[in-house]
Order: sequence, then structure tokens, then C-alpha cells
Amino acid sequence: MEGIGELSRTHSCGELSTSHVGQQVVLMGWVQKRRDHGGVIFLDLRDRGGVVQVVLSPDLQEETFEKGQAVRPEYVLAVWGEVRKRPPGTENPNMATGQVEVAAEGIRILNAARSLPFYPGDAPEVDEALRLRYRYLDLRRPECWQAFTLRHQAAKVIRDFLTDRGFLEVETPMLTRSTPEGARDYLVPSRLNPGQFYALPQSPQLFKQILMIAGFERYFQFARCFRDEDLRADRQPEFTQLDIEMSFIKERDIQSLTEEMMAELFKQVLGRELAIPFPRLSYQEAMDLYGSDKPDLRFGMQIVDISSEVRDSACRVFADAVKQGGVVRGIRVPGAASFSRKVLDDLGKLVANWGAKGLAWFQLGEEGVRSPLAKLFTPQELADLVATMEGKKGDLLLFIADKADIAASVLGQLRMELANRLGLIDADQFSFVWITDFPLLEYNEEEKRFEAVHHPFTAPREEDLPLLETDPGKVRARAYDLVLNGTELGGGSIRNHSRELQERLFRVIGLPQDAIEEKFGFLLEALDYGAPPHGGIAFGFDRMMMLMLHLNTIREVIAFPKTQSATCLLTKAPAPVTAKQLAELHITCSDDKIKVVR
Ligand code: AMO
Ligand code: AMP
Repeated sequence: MEGIGELSRTHSCGELSTSHVGQQVVLMGWVQKRRDHGGVIFLDLRDRGGVVQVVLSPDLQEETFEKGQAVRPEYVLAVWGEVRKRPPGTENPNMATGQVEVAAEGIRILNAARSLPFYPGDAPEVDEALRLRYRYLDLRRPECWQAFTLRHQAAKVIRDFLTDRGFLEVETPMLTRSTPEGARDYLVPSRLNPGQFYALPQSPQLFKQILMIAGFERYFQFARCFRDEDLRADRQPEFTQLDIEMSFIKERDIQSLTEEMMAELFKQVLGRELAIPFPRLSYQEAMDLYGSDKPDLRFGMQIVDISSEVRDSACRVFADAVKQGGVVRGIRVPGAASFSRKVLDDLGKLVANWGAKGLAWFQLGEEGVRSPLAKLFTPQELADLVATMEGKKGDLLLFIADKADIAASVLGQLRMELANRLGLIDADQFSFVWITDFPLLEYNEEEKRFEAVHHPFTAPREEDLPLLETDPGKVRARAYDLVLNGTELGGGSIRNHSRELQERLFRVIGLPQDAIEEKFGFLLEALDYGAPPHGGIAFGFDRMMMLMLHLNTIREVIAFPKTQSATCLLTKAPAPVTAKQLAELHITCSDDKIKVVR
């Protein structure tokens, strides 16, 4: 039993109910609220299990408290006494323990608390910087415990699920060399090897492949990953991946495993049945229909291509775009015909910010189609356009005439913006989709070379191999992403298990032979010694928790998250170090703005 001195805690505050009436209990917890009522003090005492009302009689107060001493919010107390039913009319139906209270017979202050910068219950309204500075106060909220309980349960369900299927959890190094996942590395200087640096892993990618070469066949890990990149609501500099790799498999095997795992997870943790298998879209379909490779399928509003219909139109904006090799595409916004001119003008400005040249709109009003462009269309053309878009009275049709990639991405963003504005998204829905057939490579204009869309260990589709040197942009990858409600939850691929193909790929992305040897010699060597065909996937575990809990940021599911500028407001990391530490690491700071602690 838990205890302090001669006191042993018997119950959690939140577990008390009418079944405990008449029992003597010892509680330990924090004062959440204090109310004084004509000599009697009522305390709401809170621990991780919940909150219960404690009543301090005037006699008890006198014998317990020294002069001037009182119990204030967030004091830590031990309280003992009898559980009794609340007097009729004073029950609190909003409180789980609202039928009972504890009549204190003794009380001990285990620790006092100064006046707080904010009280845990107020945290949701408090500036996030202050919450992060005093994260332990922020974390005293039941919602936070619920989030971390869910996170813990989810990890357990996944561990059990994978363990039952023969997966081994293996830890891979934190001090390693750079693995290219597309972000900047966090570097760690080596004291023993002057001028040399470790990189913190952006992912365990190469180690998990090497475990396959070692014959582990089925691996997983809750792996901490580090990426020095621009931070957003769903990105942290360090985050957790659920990382998986398997040998002797093809794409479908990883996808089925994932579907079964997600179904089990959602059932066990949220009590929700997921429909599996998940729908699938090729990258091209996703871009064409939703203007995004992470489409939110909780609502429709698919993008429609009307290029062939308007190529000879008298509307030059449309016809010229098509003749110049571009496209005209649009979306139907249900019930938005009543948008004012001002709203439409603002949408025009919005799309201009996203890179579009303009926004063409058609209001399907009661008395027909209204649009600045309407006069350029015959009545039949207008009717055809509306039919193609499946427009109904009351809808708004929006079109972008531009290069295909711009039209897609702008309409994709517009689709999200309008769905949010019009409340078309059912927030309680979980909508998974696989995105497949990604291009293997994309051209980097700045560096004038092709680079891997996912990472350079991804295998190309066999039938596209002949294009690898001749038309690299056309080669499709054996890669797949899992998207949930418009967020990329995970991504993976079948890997290159032949040295020859892996080396060929490195050359296609412009790595010189000496760099290939220097950076990836160990991998190529390992591939030479009997590498099995293999593939895998990694999920952003923080993102998974964020989405399951319907939260807006992964900071809410990370106990000690960092700010947008990658700092920890609680510990004030990063921080200067002593000159001695730097000297030991053979580091001199050239910039005199850099502060060094002496
Ligand atoms: P990828 O780079 O797509 O793949 O990462 C996998 C998943 O990790 C999550 N994620 C992040 N979460 C929070 N903060 C970040 N900064 C962050 N970056 C990524 C995303 C993403 O889908 N080695 C490959 C996987 C593989 O091929 O098996 C990899 O790391 O949810
Ligand atoms: P303008 O010909 O520039 O006066 O534009 C006439 C209408 O067409 C305006 O409503 C513009 O916003 C719209 N428009 C112009 N360029 C485009 C484009 N590339 N795609 C869609 N609409 C456009």
C-alpha cells in the first residue's frame, strides 16, 4: 500500500461512490478548489483517479491549522475520514463522485504551493508558451492524463498485436550517421574523434534493412526520430515512429498487416470498428481528384477536369490555358451560390497567394447562372458545363485555368478551405486511404538533379526500370503512404535488395561514386552478402494519437514538446555550454554572437 509516514493511502479520490459510504478512507492528492461556507470549508481533492469533495468542520480546522495557515489550491494533502452520502439537494450530477463526500477527521499538508501562474483547469485558455514553461501544471489536467493513457494503451495494443505475429522489437542506435530522409540532421560532435560528428537518426531506415539482411524477418520499434526542419502543428524536431520491416513480402502484405493492426487498435482503444481494407488511390488519381497526395476523404467535392469541353470556348481565359498545354479544372461547392462578391473576391486573393492567376466563379442561382464570364458562353455551353459539374441550384462552381500542377494544388487547398468554412467535415469520422504508385524521383530545380520522392532505398516498379536513366521522372515507386483524414500517417516501400540496382539508383540521383562508397558503402556491402527481398513502413505515432483524440497538434500528445523554434521552454534547451565542454569537443565558435558559458 502507498503511504507517507504512518499514513497509508487507501483509495483514489475518483473511485469513491455510494458503495463506500460508512468506510474510513485515507486520500492523498491536490486541492483543486476551496470554498468557505459559514465556517465549513469544502475542498475538491484531486488525484489521477478523479476528484472528490472533502468537508472540513470548524473544529477540525482549529485543531489542524496553525494560526494563519490555510489550504490553498494545488496544496498537496493527506486527508482521512469517513465517506458519507451528501445531504439531499447537495449532490452534484456533473461529478463522478457527486453523490458522496468525505467528512475529514484529520488532514496533513504534505506540501504547500505558491500562488500559481495559472491553474490547471484554466490551462486551455492560457497562452501556450506559459503552459509549456510550466508544463507540469498544464499536465495536471484530466484531459492530459486521458491523452497519455490512450497513448500508453495504443502502444501496448500495437506491441501485443505485432508480438503475436512474430515481430521482434529491436532498438537501433541514436548516435549514428546521417540517413537521408529529406530533412537536416541534428549533429553530435565526437570527443574521441576530433572533427567527426554523429547524426541523430531521422529514422532507423538503414538499420532496419540491415536487420532484414541479418535474418530477423519481422522487426518493429517505437523509434525516436530527429529532424531539423520547419515545425508545424503536426511536426516536432523529435518525434516517435512506429517503425516496421518485413522480409519476403510484397506491398499487399504490409498493407494488410497495417489494416488489421489499425482495426485492432481502434477497436481496443476507441471501441470503433474500422472498415477494412482501406480504399486505395494512385498518386495520380489523388492529385487529379483531390489536388493532394494526402486527400481528406471525409467529404466529396472532387475536382473535375473540363479542359476538353472548353478548349474551343469563346472564353479566352479557359481556351488559351488549354491550348498552351494547361488545364481547366473546377469544384462544385454545395450551397455556396449565395457567397457575396466580397467573399468571392477574397477567395480570388486567396488562390492568388497559392499561385493561381485567377478564380472563375459561376453561381447557380434561382434565376440562372451568374458569373462575370457567363456572357462568353452560349446557353447550351453553360448548361453542359453545369451538367458536367453535376451542379444544382444553390451551388457555386469554381474553376482554375492553369498548368496542371498549379490547378491541382490550388483546387486541393481551396477544397479544404471551403469544406472547413462550410462545416462539411464530419469530425468524428476516421477516413483512411492508401496512396500508391508514387513517382520514384522528382526533379530538384535548384540542384539540377533528380532526387528520391521518399528515400533512395525505395524500389522502382520493375516494368519502369528501362526508364530509370532515360526518363527518370516517369518511373513509379513501389511506395505507399497511409493517409488519415488528410494527414500523412505513415509511409513505406519495398526496398532495393540488389546491390546493383541500389548503386544504379544512387547514380541516377547524381551521387558521385566516391560519395556512394563513403556514405553508403556499408549498406552496399551488406546487400552483397545475401540480402532477402524486404520492405516496410513507418507511422508517425504522435500523429496517430493526435488524430485518434481529435486534437489539432501533436504537442498535446507529447509530454514535453518543443516550440515552433525548436526550444524547450521548461528546461530552456538548447542552451550555451561551457568553454571547457567546447574545448573537449574540439569546437570553436567563430561567430561572436554565440554565447559560451565560462
Ligand atoms: P517518413 O519520412 O514518411 O518515412 O516518416 C514516417 C512518418 O513519420 C511521421 N513524421 C513526423 N511526425 C512528427 N514530426 C515530424 N517531424 C515527422 N516527420 C515524419 C509522419 C510520416 O508519415 N524510413 C521511412 C519509412 C519507411 O520507408 O519505412 C520514413 O521515415 O507521420
Ligand atoms: P480577366 O480576364 O483577368 O478580367 O478575368 C476575368 C475573370 O476570370 C475573373 O473573375 C478572373 O478571376 C478569372 N480568371 C482570370 N484568370 C483565370 C485563371 N487562370 N483561371 C481561372 N479564372 C481566371
